Order: sequence, then C-alpha cells, then structure tokens
Amino acid sequence: MTTLFNGEVALVTGGSSGIGRATALAFAAEGARVVVASRRSEESTETVSLIRAAGGDAIFVKADVSKASEVEALVARAVEHYGALNFAFNNAGIEGDPFVPLARYSETSWDEVIDINLKGVFLSMKYELPHIVRTRGAIVNMASVAGLRGGRLGVAYYASKHGVVGLTKAAALEYADQGVRINAVAPAVIQTPLADRAGLTSDPARTARVLAMHPLGRVGVPEEVANAVLWLCSKGASFTTGHALPVDGGYLI
Ligand SMILES: NC(=O)c1ccc[n+]([C@@H]2O[C@H](COP(=O)([O-])OP(=O)(O)OC[C@H]3O[C@@H](n4cnc5c(N)ncnc54)[C@H](O)[C@@H]3O)[C@@H](O)[C@H]2O)c1
Repeated sequence: MTTLFNGEVALVTGGSSGIGRATALAFAAEGARVVVASRRSEESTETVSLIRAAGGDAIFVKADVSKASEVEALVARAVEHYGALNFAFNNAGIEGDPFVPLARYSETSWDEVIDINLKGVFLSMKYELPHIVRTRGAIVNMASVAGLRGGRLGVAYYASKHGVVGLTKAAALEYADQGVRINAVAPAVIQTPLADRAGLTSDPARTARVLAMHPLGRVGVPEEVANAVLWLCSKGASFTTGHALPVDGGYLI
C-alpha cells in the first residue's frame, strides 16, 4: 500500500481533540510518525492510543504553546525521539470570549487569545524551523475564515487569526529559498468542542444561522480540515507556499 508519508515525522499542536486529533490520526494513517502536543495529558494520551491501535507510531509531549521554554522543550523532545522533524501543524487555539463586544472585552481574555493563537504559532515556528530547514519540510498554521474577514465572534479571535495569516506569509517568504513551504488553513465552522463551546453548533437558535452561512448547507468535520493539512504537507502541494487555504463549505464566497 502506498501512503503520502513514509516514516517522516509530523508534530501536531492541540492534538488532544477536534481538528488536531483528526489530523494526528490522518498523518499516522498516511505513514507519518506523529508527535502529539497539547496541555491536556489524558485526552492526548487517548489520541496516541488511537494511533497505536491502528498500527501507527506516536508519542505525546505535554506543552503549552504560549510558553517559549515549553515549546523549545517540545521540539527538542520530538527530534530526540524520532531523529528529525519534517512537518508541523501549529493548530492549538482557543475561542476567547465569543460575542462579547469590544468595549466589554477583558484584557485578560485578549492576552490569553493572542498568547495562544498567535504567539503560540510564532513560538512553534521559531523552534521548529531550524529542524524543518534540514529536512526541507513544510509547516501548516491554523488560521480560520476569521483570519480572512471580520465578524462578530469576539475581537481577539479575529485579530489573532488575521495575525496568523500575516505571520504565515512573512515566514513563507523568509524560508522559501531554503526549500521550506509554509501555509495556513482557514476553516469555517467545524464540528468540534471549540465550536460547541462558542455556541456555533450547540445553540439551536444560532445553529440555523450558522448553517445558512455555509453554501454547502452544513458545517465541516475535523477530517475535512485534516485532508487539507495533509495535502499542504505532501509533494502534491510542492509549488504552494504562503497561502491561507479556506476549508469552508463556500462560506467566504
Ligand atoms: N472548530 C472550528 O469551527 C474552527 C474553525 C476555524 C479554526 N479553528 C481553529 O482550529 C484549532 C483547533 O480547534 P478545534 O476546533 O479543534 O477545538 P478543540 O478545542 O477541540 O481543540 C483545541 C486544541 O488546542 C489545545 N490547546 C489550547 N490551548 C493550548 C495551549 N496553550 N497549548 C497547547 N495546546 C493548547 C487543546 O488542548 C486542544 O487540543 C484552533 O486554533 C481554532 O481556532 C476552529
């Protein structure tokens, strides 16, 4: 059986649930060895167990992506264990305070969202890139349709995801001549614990409006984002860098 990856090493942050877990499983199913990182040990260990039960190879490393020392240690552990780093999906993120107007948005929530969603991607790339340069690999960052247009879901979330898109473009330019491709994915609403917490898929009054915003008539599932991430890391995307790829059921059109 041919697979997209052949023992190459993929690091997935926020791999304990939702899109991160689905992508970790998809990488493993396509032959990659996977480093699952997140703050939550129990759920991440479950992701690793699911990968191993399916015949794959994975380890869990606990790390908070907003803390430089933890990200540095995470990447060092990944390379120590598997000997190299080929791909990274910098996916960890939080929703902040959805639907709280700017004038009432707390500084604490602002700092937390920017620290995890934006600084977390910066720190991840900072420590991953020296290794990914060696393998001429690829990085995919987690943006959102909230990184490509405005909306009413809490200002910090939009600011953080627009930041991820800018960071992705700048990093792609810096590293293009070293053979490293850096892209982002920009999903619309995907059925995950985060979307439930934000009331997008759990609040019946809002769900009808949310569905109407997706021309395909439904929200996405994590595996549909995982497919896009794997393609962006694969040889099939060898001439694609610096883009934020919508995975959005037509939301942005
Ligand atoms: N679900 C959606 O509708 C949607 C749409 C667009 C973008 N996204 C983005 O997708 C990413 C994943 O979210 P999800 O929907 O799968 O939700 P989720 O809550 O299931 O997953 C979030 C993951 O990030 C981890 N995480 C959070 N803070 C962390 C930190 N400081 N350090 C390390 N790990 C941390 C969590 O443990 C979890 O594994 C987020 O960046 C989110 O903004 C989600």
